[in-house]
Amino acid sequence: MRSILILNGPNLNMLGKREPAIYGATTLPEIEAACHAHAERRGIALTFLQSNHEGTLIDAIQAAPEAHAGIILNAGAYTHTSIALRDAIASIAIPVIELHLSNIHARESFRHHSMIAPACIGQISGFGAAGYTLAMDAMIGHLNEEQA
Ligand code: DQA
Repeated sequence: MRSILILNGPNLNMLGKREPAIYGATTLPEIEAACHAHAERRGIALTFLQSNHEGTLIDAIQAAPEAHAGIILNAGAYTHTSIALRDAIASIAIPVIELHLSNIHARESFRHHSMIAPACIGQISGFGAAGYTLAMDAMIGHLNEEQA
C-alpha cells in the first residue's frame, strides 16, 4: 500500500491554543484524525509526525524514502530560516509538498520567503486545517501522474 508521511515542525503541537485567529481552533490530534480518515478513504497508508527540533525533522526526511512515496511538510518557522531542511529535501528523490495553515504571503514580510519552496514540488498555503487533506489529494494526484 502506498504510504505518505505528514511532517509537522515547531509549535504546531500548540494548534488550538496558539493564535487561533491565525491558525484556527482545530488541534493537531484533530487534524491527524482527519488525515487518517482521509487516508482510509483514499486507500493509502499514513504516518503523521510532529517535532519542535530541526534535526529530528531532517532525520525523518532522510529516512522517509525507505517507507514513503511522498512527504507533506509543514515546517513551521523553519520554512523561513532553514537551509538545512531545504538541503535535506533536495537530498531525497521522493516528492515533498510544502504546507501552511495560514497564507504566509499575506502575513509579515519575513514569512513571504520560503527557504524550502525551491526544493518542493508545490505549496499549499492559506486553507487552514483543510490544507492537510488538500495536500494529501495533491500528493496522490502527483504520484498517480508519476506512475502513469
Ligand atoms: C505556518 C506558517 C509559519 O510562518 C509559522 O512560523 C508557523 C505555521 C502555518 O502553518 O501557517 O509556525 O507554517
